[in-house]
Amino acid sequence: MTAPNTASADVSLRQFLSRLSVEPMALAEFLQDPRSVIKRFALDEPGRTALTHGYELQMWELLLRLPVTPWPEADGAANGQAAGSQHGSLTVVGTGIRTLGQLTAEAIAWMKVSDTVLYAVVDPVAEEVIRTLNPAGALSLMGYYVENMARDLTYEAMVNHIVSCVKAGQRTCVALYGHPGIFAYPAHEAIRRLRREGFQARMLPGVSAEDCLFADLGVDPARTGCQSIEASHFLLFDKTIDATSALILWQVGAVGDNTYHSGRYKLDAFPLMASKLSDVYGGSHVATVYEAAILPGMVPRVKQVAIENLTPDDVTPASTLYVPPSKRRVLNRELASRLGLYRDRRKR
Ligand SMILES: C[S@@+](CC[C@H](N)C(=O)[O-])C[C@H]1O[C@@H](n2cnc3c(N)ncnc32)[C@H](O)[C@@H]1O
Repeated sequence: MTAPNTASADVSLRQFLSRLSVEPMALAEFLQDPRSVIKRFALDEPGRTALTHGYELQMWELLLRLPVTPWPEADGAANGQAAGSQHGSLTVVGTGIRTLGQLTAEAIAWMKVSDTVLYAVVDPVAEEVIRTLNPAGALSLMGYYVENMARDLTYEAMVNHIVSCVKAGQRTCVALYGHPGIFAYPAHEAIRRLRREGFQARMLPGVSAEDCLFADLGVDPARTGCQSIEASHFLLFDKTIDATSALILWQVGAVGDNTYHSGRYKLDAFPLMASKLSDVYGGSHVATVYEAAILPGMVPRVKQVAIENLTPDDVTPASTLYVPPSKRRVLNRELASRLGLYRDRRKR
């Protein structure tokens, strides 16, 4: 085997991949026919070999402009993608909370190249994007939501629909708002069932409401730790909630109601949730009701309320509650100093 030749006037792997990162339509074409895009963009020979054979080490060396290790003797699977044993595939993508700006190039590319795009989004901009990208294959799953019906029945129907498209041999894309794996049982369940039957099925990450919250409220989950819990689960399960850490409560605007409503939810359980929160964090402790902006140029809705004053009127189905820590963390000084991570200033 000869060492890869890195001297070329063509486009380097670094340039090629950076171009695909910002050109979703080229990425879509690459997903369907990598060779033609590689040729059209004039990717150099080392980049071409490393990329088409999925030689990860050599890709890093090319990207970091290091000397390149000779190609392996035996070729790996082309492009490093583990193909399923069956025809038909599933790719689940997220549209972000604010479609304009939060839709990834990869999500756009998959929506473009799929035979069918099944979607459940609440933002008309996201729906317009999906239908424009794939006019022939776009189909809304929102019709499975029925007023006052248990949401788990809706989810089961969605899973069956997704699985049947893949089994019919279609390259299927499912687009859900936010991150498609957060509070998205149908996506995870469809992937589980399809993989069990030998189909290729995967999920790509998206921008979630929690991601927006960290950015908009300026909180870093690394500082004190952060518990992220669904509101009804917080209420119904015996959990040890740590008041030295922040708490993010999802679906506070639907707490205690497992049916679907297009408008407001029945919030009889809301005072119980607020009372449990008060027991852990204290009634006078101030929490933030948060709603990320969906449209460009809009500001998020941020309302600060003492836990004892929280009422159902403070929330909507799109609200997430952020509770900062109310107790100080206690450092294990003995362990920290043994590890050299703590110096007692009083001894200086
Ligand atoms: C079914 S979950 C969907 C979560 C979504 N997949 C994600 O990645 O953010 C619905 C919950 O997400 C949160 N959520 C949705 N939209 C939001 C927004 N614009 N701002 C804040 N939280 C939001 C709320 O807690 C809401 O009850």
